[in-house]
Amino acid sequence: MNRKKAVVPSWQYDERAKTGVDYEDTAIAAEYDNQHSRFRDFEKDARMVIQRIDLQPEHTVIDLGCGTGAFVIPAARSCRKVFAVDISPAMLDKCKEKARKAGLGNIETHCAGFLSYKHKGDPVDAIVSVVALHHLPDFWKAVALKRMYNMLKPGGKLYLFDVIFAFPVESYQSELDNWVNGMGEKAGQSMAEETVIHIRDEYSTFDWIIDGMIERVGFKIEQKLSELPYCLTYVNVRL
Ligand SMILES: C[S@@+](CC[C@H](N)C(=O)[O-])C[C@H]1O[C@@H](n2cnc3c(N)ncnc32)[C@H](O)[C@@H]1O
Repeated sequence: MNRKKAVVPSWQYDERAKTGVDYEDTAIAAEYDNQHSRFRDFEKDARMVIQRIDLQPEHTVIDLGCGTGAFVIPAARSCRKVFAVDISPAMLDKCKEKARKAGLGNIETHCAGFLSYKHKGDPVDAIVSVVALHHLPDFWKAVALKRMYNMLKPGGKLYLFDVIFAFPVESYQSELDNWVNGMGEKAGQSMAEETVIHIRDEYSTFDWIIDGMIERVGFKIEQKLSELPYCLTYVNVRL
């Protein structure tokens, strides 16, 4: 059999480059659910996503940057198949362990990233990505969005939630201080420190930049919701 190995160009962004929080660290992966459950309700958030993308029992969905499976596990109970994709083996191991314990057999895991995951099956009904896209610098975010567009059926939905800045640039100091302090109050000192790392070393950007990228790759923004000035939800449809 003539199996050609995919050649990765030398200019390709290295998705496993260590910038910001190191999710390949098994200690971070082990503590992730504990840490995050101090300021998130995984089940409630997942129900909201399921409702916003109108996930049906016959649907297939990809979760890109799925982490320990915050969305994957509830989604697998609600639809035909979930493709759980993450660049970190440690995070994916936690997700697999939870799927096993829940007795869910309709989850396919892939250790891959926004820029490397090759979807082999039919185009999917929906893609979900929660607090993950900010790991890519802006140019590569647009490439990732185009790749997601190509994995969806026409009419398919992309649900994107991320740390995206919806405040005017001149108020960045007070907004970022408020975010760090608020996180410290809600989730403790270690999450406040992670927030500092996020701001300093990861690639969150402004909403008007993300709006442009989403539309330029061919999506229609159906909903754009902002509960906080540094978190945004987009529900986009593939035209
Ligand atoms: C903050 S966690 C979010 C995990 C999960 N979506 C959730 O809601 O809890 C960010 C995740 O993105 C993953 N990640 C980072 N860069 C990635 C990339 N280029 N492609 C796919 N996943 C990536 C990390 O390994 C980590 O699991």
